Amino acid sequence: MTTYKACVIGYPIHHSLSPKLHKHWLHRYGIKGTYEAIEVHPDNLSQEIESLKNKGFRGCNITLPHKEHMFTLCDVTTDIAQEIKAVNTVVFQKDGTIWGTNTDVYGFSQNLIQNNKVDSTMGNALVFGAGGASRAIIVALQHMGFTHIHIANRTIKRAEDLATEFITNTCVITYGDLSSAEQHLLNCTLLVNTTSLGMAEYPPLTLSMANLQKTAVVTDIVYTPLVTPLLKMAQERGNPIVDGLGMLLYQAIPGFEHWFNHSSPQVDEDLRQHILQFL
Ligand code: ATR
Repeated sequence: MTTYKACVIGYPIHHSLSPKLHKHWLHRYGIKGTYEAIEVHPDNLSQEIESLKNKGFRGCNITLPHKEHMFTLCDVTTDIAQEIKAVNTVVFQKDGTIWGTNTDVYGFSQNLIQNNKVDSTMGNALVFGAGGASRAIIVALQHMGFTHIHIANRTIKRAEDLATEFITNTCVITYGDLSSAEQHLLNCTLLVNTTSLGMAEYPPLTLSMANLQKTAVVTDIVYTPLVTPLLKMAQERGNPIVDGLGMLLYQAIPGFEHWFNHSSPQVDEDLRQHILQFL
C-alpha cells in the first residue's frame, strides 16, 4: 500500500494547524499518509519545492509568506489562482509539472454557505483590510455575486490598489480609511474583517455598529480567539455571526482530495472540536 506524503510550508510554520487537521482526516478515513509542517526560508522556496518533488511528495499547502512567490513557480494554475495571483495548494503531477490553485476563496465561501448565511439578496459587503488575505475575500465576494464592496483599511493606498485591481463591470469597489466604514454600514449585508485586529495580542477593531442592520452577517477570518471582539459585539446586538475557524477547515478540503485520493472529507463538529483544543 502506497504512503501518500503531503506537507505545509511557511515561515514561520510552528503555529500551523494544518497538520492536526489533515492527520485527523487521515486517521478518520484509514488512509496511509503523512502530513508534516516544514519551515522554509523565503530565499529557499524554489529549491525546497524541487526537493519535495524528488522525495515523492504528492503536493503541499503553501502559507505565509510564500503564496505569491509560489504562484510564479507553478507550471499550471487555476483561474481562481490567477485572479488572486497567489497559490496555497500545490500538486506535483505525474509528468513532473507543478499545478497550483487557491482554496481560500472556496474556504471563505463554504464557511458562509454551510452556515446558511448566504442568500440571493446579498449585495453590499464591507471589508476591513487590504492585505494578502483581503485579495481572496474580495474575489470570493465577487464570485458570490456581491455588486458593491467597500474596502476600509488603515493604509488607504493599499485599499486603493486593491479596488483598482479588482473592480469589474458587475462589482463596484469603493475604499477609504478605517473610519470610512461607518457610512457604509446602513446598506451593508455582509461585514468581513480580514485585518489582524482582534487577534490575540492585537487591539480590537473599533467600530460603532449603530447603523448596521440587524440582519447583516458579520464574519471574521481571525480565529484566535474564536469569538473576536468584533463578533462578540455583533452577536450581542443580535446580528448573525460566522467565526473564522470554518474557513481554515474548508480551505483544506481540495488539497486533501488531491493528495490522498479521498473525496469530500467532512468538516463537522468532531473536526471543529478536535482543532479547537489546539487554539
Ligand atoms: P495578510 O496577508 O494576513 O492579510 P498583511 O498583508 O500584513 O497580512 O495585512 C494585514 C492587514 O491588517 C492589513 O490590512 C493591515 O493594514 P495596513 O495595510 O494599513 O498595514 C491590517 N492591520 C494590521 N495591523 C493593524 C493595526 N494595528 N491597525 C490597523 N490595521 C492593521
